[in-house]
Amino acid sequence: MDYLRIQGGRELYGTVSLPGAKNSLLPILAAGILCSRPVTLMNVPNLTDLHSSLDILRTVGWGAEYLDGTVQLFPAKKVKSSIPEKAAGAMRSSVFYMAPLLHRTGKVELPSPGGCRLGERPIDIHLEGLVKMGASAAMENNVLVLRAEKGLTGTCFKLRYPSVGATETLMMAAVLAKGESYLVNVAKEPEVVDLAHFLNRCGAKIRGAGTDSLEITGVPQLEGAVHTLIPDRIVAATIFSAVAAAKGEVKITNVWPVHLAGVLDIYRKMGMKIWQSAPGELMVKMEQRPISPNHLQTGPFPAFCTDASPLVAAALLTGTGETVIEDTVFENRFDCAQEFSKLGACAIKQGRSIRIWGRECFLGGTAHAGDLRGGAALVCAALAAKGESKITGLEYIQRGYGNIQQLLGQLGAEIELCSE
Ligand code: UD1
Repeated sequence: MDYLRIQGGRELYGTVSLPGAKNSLLPILAAGILCSRPVTLMNVPNLTDLHSSLDILRTVGWGAEYLDGTVQLFPAKKVKSSIPEKAAGAMRSSVFYMAPLLHRTGKVELPSPGGCRLGERPIDIHLEGLVKMGASAAMENNVLVLRAEKGLTGTCFKLRYPSVGATETLMMAAVLAKGESYLVNVAKEPEVVDLAHFLNRCGAKIRGAGTDSLEITGVPQLEGAVHTLIPDRIVAATIFSAVAAAKGEVKITNVWPVHLAGVLDIYRKMGMKIWQSAPGELMVKMEQRPISPNHLQTGPFPAFCTDASPLVAAALLTGTGETVIEDTVFENRFDCAQEFSKLGACAIKQGRSIRIWGRECFLGGTAHAGDLRGGAALVCAALAAKGESKITGLEYIQRGYGNIQQLLGQLGAEIELCSE
């Protein structure tokens, strides 16, 4: 079993460059199936979810190579419509293959998608939109089977919630559908905009990305493109929290501050000094215990993003007082609360919230990552501890961080990957 051994109490100094965003990468890889020509993606992080996606692409017939941060996709000669159970179960993002495969083969078979257990995570909005575009959906022997033998047709559809995944599914469905689509109450997250930019670069006609409605004119075919992924704003939040927990001064390069709307203010109110040192560069400095806000609430972009909430919680474990963070997006974001306690910190999960009592110091211990961002939050918490910690459950952390020990180790954190 692999685990991370972390000796807390080391301040962080140095420079770190952000990798491409996982949440842009995964839908864009699936969107590669919509393209009739090769696709090149750059600034691609080496994540287990990347390799699960490449497995799906190869299984359905695509050529898919990854080398030194670049992915190349080559269109299939013959496309298969079913996603194997193991690949679907490896990550939630297997749902992104529904719309592209429907366009390619008129049929998709998708066994239960996996992913972090953050709550129910239904896909009803994805399906409702696809059905409105002319697909049929049925469960057959525990496999979701979608059919659209006559292709998809543009439609007018209002999402009941601005779901990131459903917006991306329906955007991918609409770009090759016949006629116009109007999607209303869509997600505005930067990763949704990145997908739209990629698709437009391939010849799609999407207007309105980054606003709450999209107007999409279907085109008969998409070409390929060379596309550089936007930087990962959640990795940026991970660095903020690591510095808030361990103290120090770090330069973050390849960062787009506008994507950090909703979190910059939170860290600043905690007492962190954050300033732009050059275009695409942020300096972050923390010299004191974080000042604990009373109450924080997550929400869709540009509000405080749900993925950053366990990371912010980790920073507040050494805060000056009591904080409640409520996640309005997922019901089960804060399983990490119990694990924080195993490190000697003081936090409990209360429904969909976490309540934290900041402590000047805690000693570290052994804790288990049960989901991706909760796992990264444990690593940040361990950096704040005075003693040694052991963090297990690395398979979750590696879904979103190519090499978290190197990311933080280059800043002076004492963190190593061990096996037992
Ligand atoms: C994406 C991100 C994830 C992030 C989340 C919210 C990827 C690969 N993952 O997840 O990291 O935490 O956005 O920013 O991009 N919902 C429904 N029905 C649906 C779809 C969603 O009820 O058909 C609900 C979900 O259960 C959840 C909420 O809507 O409560 C938000 O989910 P959504 O925005 O879809 O998140 P994901 O796309 O799964």
